[in-house]
Amino acid sequence: MKIINVGNYQELSERAAKIVIETVQNKPNAVLGLATGSTPIGLYNELIDDHAKNGTSYRKICTFNLDEYVGLEGSHPQSYLYFMRQHLFNHIDISPENTFIPNGKAEDMMKECERYEELIKEKGGIDLQILGIGQNGHIGFNEPGTSFSSRTHIIQLTESTRKANSRFFSSMDEVPTHAVTVGIQTIMESRKILLLVSGQAKMEAFKRLLSDEIDESFPASVLKLHNDVTVITDIAFDN
Ligand code: F6R
Repeated sequence: MKIINVGNYQELSERAAKIVIETVQNKPNAVLGLATGSTPIGLYNELIDDHAKNGTSYRKICTFNLDEYVGLEGSHPQSYLYFMRQHLFNHIDISPENTFIPNGKAEDMMKECERYEELIKEKGGIDLQILGIGQNGHIGFNEPGTSFSSRTHIIQLTESTRKANSRFFSSMDEVPTHAVTVGIQTIMESRKILLLVSGQAKMEAFKRLLSDEIDESFPASVLKLHNDVTVITDIAFDN
């Protein structure tokens, strides 16, 4: 893992945007894996600014989001589809038909998981996967204990993840109990991975990521087995 330590969140967002923009410029039909949550919002703002100022085009870019809550319509303000439209898709020239997010309202969720995996393959696999990290080490919604060989699947969210995400809902009861997430093996098949780790709340997770541990009880530790991972963090550490 290559670790880039920056001074603050703004710098983290700019460094991450540089990597995404280079990917898009070098391969205008690249396949990007995208994350939601607080961490990549600054990155998405930088991409929007760059698109407006420099005209970087996403016309042929295809995106796959990591996850979606089960049971929320895409029109629900806390759905990840809504999030992506609001924070990125509505502000760049990407074609809506090239943006993929698992359907949390599919009638047959097992089939939906298979369909999503097939689609990723059909589009040639992920060139650059953007990841955040949960305080418990989750990547996507792959909670501790998820098999490293997992593919897109349904997962029961841990209470700690539901609590962390309840800040976006009006009450804890409204936070969905399940999510559909791209699996760990699927993430590991991405050609390049960019992990963003921001804020003191992620300190413990970051320390664990730097240790020698590679174990399913800490999902992000699998990234140490990938040959092209860049971690950008605004957490001060000694290396
Ligand atoms: C979201 C996702 C999650 C988040 C993680 C960190 O698509 O895959 O793994 O990246 O929960 O969330 P934030 O950035 O809100 O701290």
